[in-house]
Amino acid sequence: MLSLQKISITHFKNYEISSFCFDKSVIGICGLNGKGKTNLLDAIYYCCFTKSYFPGSDTLNIKFNQEGFRIESSFLLNEKPQHIVVINRVNAKKEFYLNQSVYEKLSQHIGLLPAVIVAPDDIDIINGSSDGRRKYIDTLISQLDNEYLQSLILHNKILLQRNSLLKNIASGNINDFGLLDVLDDQLSIPAQQIYNKRKVFLEKLLPMIILFYKNIADNDENLIAFYDSKICENNYKELLTINRQKDVAIQRTSVGIHKDDLLFELNDQVFKNIASQGQKKSLLFAMKLAEYETIKNSKGFTPLLLLDDVFEKLDDKRITNLLDWVCNKNKGQVFITDTHKVRLENTFNQLEIDGQIIEL
Ligand SMILES: Nc1ncnc2c1ncn2[C@@H]1O[C@H](COP(=O)(O)OP(=O)(O)OP(=O)(O)O)[C@@H](O)[C@H]1O
Ligand SMILES: [Mg+2]
Repeated sequence: MLSLQKISITHFKNYEISSFCFDKSVIGICGLNGKGKTNLLDAIYYCCFTKSYFPGSDTLNIKFNQEGFRIESSFLLNEKPQHIVVINRVNAKKEFYLNQSVYEKLSQHIGLLPAVIVAPDDIDIINGSSDGRRKYIDTLISQLDNEYLQSLILHNKILLQRNSLLKNIASGNINDFGLLDVLDDQLSIPAQQIYNKRKVFLEKLLPMIILFYKNIADNDENLIAFYDSKICENNYKELLTINRQKDVAIQRTSVGIHKDDLLFELNDQVFKNIASQGQKKSLLFAMKLAEYETIKNSKGFTPLLLLDDVFEKLDDKRITNLLDWVCNKNKGQVFITDTHKVRLENTFNQLEIDGQIIEL
Protein backbone atom coordinates (compact mmCIF):
# COMPACT_ATOMS: atom_id res chain seq x y z
CA MET A 1 0.00 0.00 0.00
CA LEU A 2 1.08 3.56 -0.68
CA SER A 3 0.10 6.25 1.82
CA LEU A 4 1.01 9.84 2.49
CA GLN A 5 1.80 10.55 6.14
CA LYS A 6 2.70 14.22 6.07
CA ILE A 7 3.07 17.14 3.69
CA SER A 8 4.55 20.60 4.28
CA ILE A 9 3.85 23.25 1.68
CA THR A 10 5.65 26.58 1.46
CA HIS A 11 4.72 29.32 -1.03
CA PHE A 12 2.98 26.85 -3.40
CA LYS A 13 0.03 28.65 -5.03
CA ASN A 14 -2.13 30.17 -2.25
CA TYR A 15 -0.21 28.48 0.61
CA GLU A 16 2.06 30.51 2.90
CA ILE A 17 3.52 27.80 5.18
CA SER A 18 1.24 24.86 6.03
CA SER A 19 1.71 21.31 7.24
CA PHE A 20 -0.81 18.48 7.22
CA CYS A 21 -0.54 15.08 8.88
CA PHE A 22 -2.68 12.21 7.63
CA ASP A 23 -3.39 9.30 9.94
CA LYS A 24 -6.33 7.61 8.22
CA SER A 25 -6.79 6.00 4.85
CA VAL A 26 -9.77 8.22 3.99
CA ILE A 27 -9.15 11.95 4.25
CA GLY A 28 -11.85 14.55 3.64
CA ILE A 29 -10.60 18.06 2.87
CA CYS A 30 -13.19 20.78 3.21
CA GLY A 31 -13.26 24.53 2.86
CA LEU A 32 -14.97 27.29 0.96
CA ASN A 33 -14.26 28.16 -2.67
CA GLY A 34 -10.72 29.37 -3.21
CA LYS A 35 -9.42 28.04 0.14
CA GLY A 36 -6.83 25.73 -1.44
CA LYS A 37 -8.48 22.26 -1.60
CA THR A 38 -7.50 21.68 -5.23
CA ASN A 39 -4.08 23.21 -4.58
CA LEU A 40 -3.47 20.76 -1.72
CA LEU A 41 -4.35 17.81 -3.98
CA ASP A 42 -2.07 19.29 -6.63
CA ALA A 43 0.82 19.55 -4.14
CA ILE A 44 0.36 15.83 -3.41
CA TYR A 45 0.17 15.07 -7.15
CA TYR A 46 3.37 17.10 -7.63
CA CYS A 47 5.28 14.80 -5.28
CA CYS A 48 4.14 11.77 -7.31
CA PHE A 49 4.60 13.13 -10.85
CA THR A 50 7.27 15.86 -10.39
CA LYS A 51 4.89 18.40 -11.88
CA SER A 52 1.48 19.98 -11.42
CA TYR A 53 -1.58 18.23 -12.82
CA PHE A 54 -2.69 21.49 -14.37
CA PRO A 55 -1.20 22.94 -17.57
CA GLY A 56 0.91 26.07 -17.46
CA SER A 57 4.40 27.08 -16.49
CA ASP A 58 5.84 26.13 -13.10
CA THR A 59 6.18 29.83 -12.27
CA LEU A 60 2.37 29.95 -11.94
CA ASN A 61 2.68 27.53 -9.02
CA ILE A 62 4.85 29.91 -7.01
CA LYS A 63 2.88 32.08 -4.63
CA PHE A 64 2.51 35.59 -6.05
CA ASN A 65 5.47 37.85 -5.14
CA GLN A 66 7.59 34.97 -3.78
CA GLU A 67 10.92 33.63 -5.01
CA GLY A 68 10.01 29.96 -5.15
CA PHE A 69 8.09 27.12 -3.55
CA ARG A 70 8.99 24.06 -1.52
CA ILE A 71 6.99 20.90 -0.91
CA GLU A 72 8.20 18.27 1.51
CA SER A 73 6.33 15.01 2.00
CA SER A 74 6.68 11.68 3.78
CA PHE A 75 5.15 8.57 2.22
CA LEU A 76 4.99 4.97 3.31
CA LEU A 77 5.38 2.56 0.40
CA ASN A 78 4.79 -1.03 1.49
CA GLU A 79 5.81 0.10 5.01
CA LYS A 80 9.07 1.67 3.81
CA PRO A 81 9.41 5.46 4.31
CA GLN A 82 9.95 7.56 1.19
CA HIS A 83 10.82 11.19 1.69
CA ILE A 84 10.30 13.75 -1.05
CA VAL A 85 11.55 17.32 -1.25
CA VAL A 86 10.73 19.59 -4.19
CA ILE A 87 12.34 23.00 -4.48
CA ASN A 88 11.43 25.28 -7.34
CA ARG A 89 12.95 28.75 -7.47
CA VAL A 90 12.29 31.41 -10.11
CA ASN A 91 14.80 31.08 -12.98
CA ALA A 92 16.47 27.99 -11.53
CA LYS A 93 16.36 24.31 -12.34
CA LYS A 94 13.78 22.42 -10.31
CA GLU A 95 15.31 20.24 -7.58
CA PHE A 96 13.56 16.98 -6.76
CA TYR A 97 14.91 14.74 -4.00
CA LEU A 98 13.96 11.20 -3.04
CA ASN A 99 15.38 10.22 0.36
CA GLN A 100 17.98 13.03 0.19
CA SER A 101 19.21 12.03 -3.31
CA VAL A 102 18.55 14.43 -6.14
CA TYR A 103 17.13 13.03 -9.40
CA GLU A 104 19.21 13.65 -12.52
CA LYS A 105 16.18 12.92 -14.71
CA LEU A 106 12.72 13.65 -13.28
CA SER A 107 11.16 10.92 -15.46
CA GLN A 108 13.00 8.32 -13.31
CA HIS A 109 10.56 9.12 -10.49
CA ILE A 110 7.39 8.38 -12.51
CA GLY A 111 5.68 5.22 -11.35
CA LEU A 112 7.41 5.01 -7.96
CA LEU A 113 4.59 6.78 -6.11
CA PRO A 114 1.60 6.24 -8.41
CA ALA A 115 -1.54 8.32 -8.02
CA VAL A 116 -4.81 8.81 -9.87
CA ILE A 117 -6.49 12.20 -9.74
CA VAL A 118 -10.01 13.15 -10.81
CA ALA A 119 -10.51 16.90 -11.23
CA PRO A 120 -13.66 18.69 -12.46
CA ASP A 121 -12.11 19.74 -15.81
CA ASP A 122 -11.37 16.07 -16.57
CA ILE A 123 -14.94 15.91 -17.87
CA ASP A 124 -13.31 17.09 -21.13
CA ILE A 125 -12.10 13.48 -21.55
CA ILE A 126 -15.76 12.59 -22.12
CA ASN A 127 -17.02 15.77 -23.84
CA GLY A 128 -13.96 16.84 -25.77
CA SER A 129 -12.12 15.63 -28.87
CA SER A 130 -10.41 12.25 -29.17
CA ASP A 131 -7.07 13.83 -28.05
CA GLY A 132 -8.13 13.65 -24.40
CA ARG A 133 -9.14 10.00 -24.66
CA ARG A 134 -5.89 9.06 -26.40
CA LYS A 135 -3.98 10.93 -23.70
CA TYR A 136 -5.89 8.92 -21.08
CA ILE A 137 -4.89 5.62 -22.76
CA ASP A 138 -1.29 6.71 -23.44
CA THR A 139 -0.67 8.01 -19.91
CA LEU A 140 -1.95 4.79 -18.43
CA ILE A 141 -0.08 2.35 -20.71
CA SER A 142 3.12 4.43 -20.58
CA GLN A 143 3.22 4.20 -16.78
CA LEU A 144 3.17 0.42 -17.00
CA ASP A 145 5.11 -0.27 -20.21
CA ASN A 146 8.20 1.76 -21.01
CA GLU A 147 8.51 0.21 -24.52
CA TYR A 148 5.08 1.66 -25.33
CA LEU A 149 6.27 5.11 -24.27
CA GLN A 150 9.41 4.78 -26.41
CA SER A 151 7.32 3.68 -29.46
CA LEU A 152 5.04 6.66 -28.91
CA ILE A 153 7.93 9.14 -28.75
CA LEU A 154 9.46 7.65 -31.94
CA HIS A 155 6.10 7.59 -33.73
CA ASN A 156 5.39 11.24 -32.94
CA LYS A 157 8.82 12.28 -34.19
CA ILE A 158 8.45 10.45 -37.54
CA LEU A 159 4.86 11.69 -37.93
CA LEU A 160 6.11 15.29 -37.67
CA GLN A 161 8.76 14.56 -40.33
CA ARG A 162 6.15 12.98 -42.64
CA ASN A 163 3.75 15.90 -42.23
CA SER A 164 6.50 18.38 -42.94
CA LEU A 165 7.48 16.43 -46.10
CA LEU A 166 3.82 16.38 -47.22
CA LYS A 167 3.75 20.18 -46.91
CA ASN A 168 6.93 20.50 -48.96
CA ILE A 169 5.59 18.15 -51.67
CA ALA A 170 2.26 20.02 -51.81
CA SER A 171 3.99 23.39 -52.17
CA GLY A 172 6.20 22.01 -54.96
CA ASN A 173 9.48 22.54 -53.01
CA ILE A 174 10.34 18.85 -53.01
CA ASN A 175 9.11 16.02 -55.16
CA ASP A 176 10.70 13.19 -53.22
CA PHE A 177 8.25 10.30 -53.10
CA GLY A 178 11.18 7.99 -52.38
CA LEU A 179 11.68 9.75 -49.05
CA LEU A 180 7.94 9.45 -48.40
CA ASP A 181 8.25 5.68 -48.97
CA VAL A 182 11.05 5.54 -46.41
CA LEU A 183 9.07 7.53 -43.85
CA ASP A 184 5.99 5.35 -44.43
CA ASP A 185 8.11 2.28 -43.67
CA GLN A 186 9.59 3.93 -40.57
CA LEU A 187 6.24 5.19 -39.30
CA SER A 188 4.48 1.84 -39.72
CA ILE A 189 6.76 0.04 -37.26
CA PRO A 190 5.99 2.03 -34.05
CA ALA A 191 2.39 2.69 -35.22
CA GLN A 192 1.71 -1.02 -35.57
CA GLN A 193 3.36 -1.71 -32.16
CA ILE A 194 1.24 0.99 -30.50
CA TYR A 195 -1.93 -0.34 -32.13
CA ASN A 196 -1.17 -3.92 -31.03
CA LYS A 197 -0.49 -2.85 -27.44
CA ARG A 198 -3.57 -0.59 -27.26
CA LYS A 199 -5.71 -3.45 -28.57
CA VAL A 200 -4.50 -5.99 -26.02
CA PHE A 201 -4.64 -3.45 -23.18
CA LEU A 202 -8.13 -2.17 -24.03
CA GLU A 203 -9.53 -5.70 -24.19
CA LYS A 204 -9.12 -5.74 -20.41
CA LEU A 205 -9.62 -2.05 -19.62
CA LEU A 206 -12.93 -1.45 -21.44
CA PRO A 207 -14.89 -4.21 -19.61
CA MET A 208 -13.49 -2.81 -16.35
CA ILE A 209 -14.80 0.69 -17.22
CA ILE A 210 -18.23 -0.79 -17.98
CA LEU A 211 -18.27 -2.69 -14.69
CA PHE A 212 -17.36 0.41 -12.66
CA TYR A 213 -20.04 2.40 -14.51
CA LYS A 214 -22.65 -0.26 -13.71
CA ASN A 215 -21.62 -0.21 -10.04
CA ILE A 216 -21.93 3.57 -9.82
CA ALA A 217 -25.17 3.91 -11.84
CA ASP A 218 -26.74 0.79 -10.32
CA ASN A 219 -29.62 0.65 -12.85
CA ASP A 220 -30.40 -0.85 -16.25
CA GLU A 221 -28.46 1.69 -18.31
CA ASN A 222 -26.65 -0.18 -21.01
CA LEU A 223 -23.14 1.17 -21.61
CA ILE A 224 -20.89 -0.26 -24.30
CA ALA A 225 -17.37 0.75 -25.22
CA PHE A 226 -15.21 0.24 -28.33
CA TYR A 227 -11.67 0.86 -29.39
CA ASP A 228 -12.04 2.75 -32.67
CA SER A 229 -9.03 2.46 -34.98
CA LYS A 230 -8.62 2.27 -38.75
CA ILE A 231 -5.61 0.03 -38.30
CA CYS A 232 -5.87 -3.74 -38.07
CA GLU A 233 -3.25 -6.45 -38.13
CA ASN A 234 -0.23 -5.30 -40.19
CA ASN A 235 -2.13 -3.07 -42.60
CA TYR A 236 -0.87 0.40 -41.67
CA LYS A 237 1.65 0.61 -44.52
CA GLU A 238 -1.16 -0.24 -46.98
CA LEU A 239 -3.42 2.42 -45.44
CA LEU A 240 -0.70 5.03 -45.85
CA THR A 241 -0.34 4.08 -49.53
CA ILE A 242 -4.11 4.18 -50.16
CA ASN A 243 -4.38 7.62 -48.51
CA ARG A 244 -1.22 9.09 -50.00
CA GLN A 245 -2.88 11.35 -52.59
CA LYS A 246 -5.31 12.69 -50.01
CA ASP A 247 -2.49 13.25 -47.49
CA VAL A 248 -0.52 15.29 -50.03
CA ALA A 249 -3.65 17.35 -50.78
CA ILE A 250 -4.42 18.10 -47.11
CA GLN A 251 -0.70 18.25 -46.19
CA ARG A 252 -0.92 15.94 -43.19
CA THR A 253 -1.26 12.26 -42.34
CA SER A 254 -4.96 11.51 -42.32
CA VAL A 255 -4.92 7.98 -40.98
CA GLY A 256 -3.11 6.33 -38.10
CA ILE A 257 -2.95 5.68 -34.38
CA HIS A 258 -2.93 9.47 -33.84
CA LYS A 259 -6.62 9.36 -34.87
CA ASP A 260 -7.65 6.43 -32.65
CA ASP A 261 -10.53 6.95 -30.24
CA LEU A 262 -12.58 5.32 -27.52
CA LEU A 263 -16.29 5.28 -28.35
CA PHE A 264 -19.01 4.89 -25.76
CA GLU A 265 -22.68 4.18 -26.37
CA LEU A 266 -25.49 4.47 -23.87
CA ASN A 267 -28.62 2.51 -24.76
CA ASP A 268 -27.48 2.35 -28.42
CA GLN A 269 -26.86 6.11 -28.75
CA VAL A 270 -23.54 7.97 -28.84
CA PHE A 271 -22.79 8.56 -25.15
CA LYS A 272 -21.42 12.09 -25.32
CA ASN A 273 -24.38 13.28 -27.44
CA ILE A 274 -27.12 12.07 -25.15
CA ALA A 275 -25.75 11.47 -21.63
CA SER A 276 -26.74 13.77 -18.77
CA GLN A 277 -24.09 15.60 -16.73
CA GLY A 278 -24.29 13.07 -13.90
CA GLN A 279 -24.03 10.17 -16.36
CA LYS A 280 -20.96 11.79 -17.91
CA LYS A 281 -19.41 12.31 -14.50
CA SER A 282 -20.15 8.66 -13.67
CA LEU A 283 -18.32 7.56 -16.83
CA LEU A 284 -15.39 9.80 -15.95
CA PHE A 285 -15.15 8.14 -12.52
CA ALA A 286 -15.51 4.70 -14.10
CA MET A 287 -12.59 5.47 -16.45
CA LYS A 288 -10.43 6.79 -13.60
CA LEU A 289 -11.24 3.90 -11.27
CA ALA A 290 -10.44 1.43 -14.06
CA GLU A 291 -7.11 3.27 -14.43
CA TYR A 292 -6.59 2.99 -10.66
CA GLU A 293 -7.41 -0.73 -10.62
CA THR A 294 -5.12 -1.42 -13.58
CA ILE A 295 -2.18 0.34 -11.91
CA LYS A 296 -2.94 -1.47 -8.64
CA ASN A 297 -2.97 -4.87 -10.39
CA SER A 298 0.22 -4.14 -12.23
CA LYS A 299 2.20 -2.68 -9.31
CA GLY A 300 0.82 -4.97 -6.63
CA PHE A 301 -0.14 -2.13 -4.28
CA THR A 302 -2.79 0.61 -4.13
CA PRO A 303 -1.91 4.01 -5.66
CA LEU A 304 -3.14 7.25 -4.04
CA LEU A 305 -6.58 8.37 -5.16
CA LEU A 306 -7.20 12.13 -5.28
CA LEU A 307 -10.85 13.06 -5.83
CA ASP A 308 -11.60 16.74 -6.30
CA ASP A 309 -15.24 17.85 -6.00
CA VAL A 310 -16.76 14.34 -6.05
CA PHE A 311 -20.17 15.54 -4.97
CA GLU A 312 -20.66 17.88 -7.90
CA LYS A 313 -23.35 16.62 -10.35
CA LEU A 314 -23.82 13.14 -8.84
CA ASP A 315 -27.06 12.16 -7.10
CA ASP A 316 -27.04 10.65 -3.59
CA LYS A 317 -27.34 7.08 -4.81
CA ARG A 318 -24.39 7.40 -7.20
CA ILE A 319 -22.29 9.17 -4.53
CA THR A 320 -23.02 6.37 -2.08
CA ASN A 321 -22.16 3.67 -4.64
CA LEU A 322 -18.97 5.47 -5.62
CA LEU A 323 -17.74 6.26 -2.11
CA ASP A 324 -18.65 2.84 -0.79
CA TRP A 325 -16.29 1.31 -3.34
CA VAL A 326 -13.59 3.96 -2.99
CA CYS A 327 -13.55 4.22 0.81
CA ASN A 328 -14.77 0.82 2.04
CA LYS A 329 -14.27 -1.92 -0.55
CA ASN A 330 -11.00 -0.46 -1.79
CA LYS A 331 -8.21 -0.49 0.79
CA GLY A 332 -6.04 2.34 -0.54
CA GLN A 333 -5.57 5.88 0.72
CA VAL A 334 -8.03 8.38 -0.72
CA PHE A 335 -8.33 12.17 -0.48
CA ILE A 336 -11.76 13.72 -1.09
CA THR A 337 -12.52 17.43 -1.27
CA ASP A 338 -15.83 19.17 -0.64
CA THR A 339 -17.05 22.67 0.12
CA HIS A 340 -19.59 21.35 2.71
CA LYS A 341 -18.08 19.97 5.91
CA VAL A 342 -21.42 18.67 7.19
CA ARG A 343 -22.16 16.84 3.93
CA LEU A 344 -18.75 15.16 4.12
CA GLU A 345 -19.27 14.19 7.78
CA ASN A 346 -22.75 12.85 7.11
CA THR A 347 -21.52 10.80 4.16
CA PHE A 348 -18.70 9.33 6.25
CA ASN A 349 -21.15 8.48 9.07
CA GLN A 350 -23.73 6.99 6.74
CA LEU A 351 -21.15 4.76 5.05
CA GLU A 352 -19.41 3.98 8.38
CA ILE A 353 -16.15 5.38 7.09
CA ASP A 354 -13.55 6.04 9.77
CA GLY A 355 -12.15 9.08 7.99
CA GLN A 356 -10.11 12.12 8.97
CA ILE A 357 -11.58 15.54 8.18
CA ILE A 358 -9.31 18.51 7.55
CA GLU A 359 -10.81 21.96 7.42
CA LEU A 360 -8.97 24.65 5.47
N1 LIG B 1 0.46 31.38 -7.66
C1 LIG B 1 -0.50 31.72 -6.81
N2 LIG B 1 -0.25 32.59 -5.80
C2 LIG B 1 -1.21 32.93 -4.91
N3 LIG B 1 -2.47 32.45 -4.95
C3 LIG B 1 -2.76 31.57 -5.91
C4 LIG B 1 -1.81 31.16 -6.89
N4 LIG B 1 -2.39 30.27 -7.73
C5 LIG B 1 -3.66 30.15 -7.30
N5 LIG B 1 -3.88 30.93 -6.23
C6 LIG B 1 -5.11 31.07 -5.46
O1 LIG B 1 -5.54 29.81 -5.00
C7 LIG B 1 -6.95 29.89 -4.82
C8 LIG B 1 -7.60 28.69 -5.45
O2 LIG B 1 -7.30 27.59 -4.71
P1 LIG B 1 -8.02 26.23 -5.05
O3 LIG B 1 -8.26 26.09 -6.50
O4 LIG B 1 -7.20 25.18 -4.38
O5 LIG B 1 -9.40 26.45 -4.30
P2 LIG B 1 -10.48 25.40 -3.89
O6 LIG B 1 -10.50 25.31 -2.41
O7 LIG B 1 -10.25 24.15 -4.64
O8 LIG B 1 -11.79 26.12 -4.40
P3 LIG B 1 -13.14 25.55 -5.12
O9 LIG B 1 -14.03 25.06 -4.04
O10 LIG B 1 -13.69 26.75 -5.79
O11 LIG B 1 -12.71 24.51 -6.08
C9 LIG B 1 -7.45 31.11 -5.53
O12 LIG B 1 -7.84 32.04 -4.56
C10 LIG B 1 -6.27 31.57 -6.31
O13 LIG B 1 -6.20 32.94 -6.46
MG1 LIG C 1 -11.21 23.26 -6.21
